[in-house]
Amino acid sequence: MRADIQEILLDEEALEKRVSELGAKISEEYDGMNPILIGILKGSGIFLSDLMRKITIPMEIDFLKASSYGSSAQSSGVVQLENDLSVDVRGRTIILVEDIVDTGNTLKYLLERFASLGAVEVKVCSLLNKAGRREQNVVADYIGFEIPDAFVVGYGLDFAQKYRNLPYIGILKKEIYQYRPKK
Ligand code: IMP
Ligand code: MG
Repeated sequence: MRADIQEILLDEEALEKRVSELGAKISEEYDGMNPILIGILKGSGIFLSDLMRKITIPMEIDFLKASSYGSSAQSSGVVQLENDLSVDVRGRTIILVEDIVDTGNTLKYLLERFASLGAVEVKVCSLLNKAGRREQNVVADYIGFEIPDAFVVGYGLDFAQKYRNLPYIGILKKEIYQYRPKK
């Protein structure tokens, strides 16, 4: 798998350090609020499991599955909810945990949905942000790293379901996929 990676963008040490910082910040800002961390599967699975162990206040977790990519490296723009939550979010404080915000289509869809379900507050914690490719006017409240317009894999992020198990985040070699950066 390493041979398919052009460059390691974030190594294990950098990820661990930043995830610890985010956990500390959330612990401080959500003290007494019993937030629900909602992981957006599958990409945010590793991030959420590391992040929650750096959170020192009472909290809960749940997951949902949304996809806008299909198996290509380009967002389809149409968000599909494949698995829904198992908890009632009415009156609750929610932190959506994302692997990456790219076009913002997924986030926009989910933020509107949670508002309509009666959540009190919905914030977003995304490990990565590709601000240069935004199509929707959405921002994450907590961001691990700003990254350039490149297709990245590892630490939960996939290309056609592969590479999620890489312990680092790397840029996938162009010959592995067809990806057109935004002009
Ligand atoms: P958005 O709806 O375009 O913001 O896309 C969000 C989702 O697209 C993320 O949760 C990822 O699953 C996927 N995605 C976006 N960029 C990348 C990337 O560079 N590598 C892997 N998955 C990505
Ligand atoms: Mg994905």
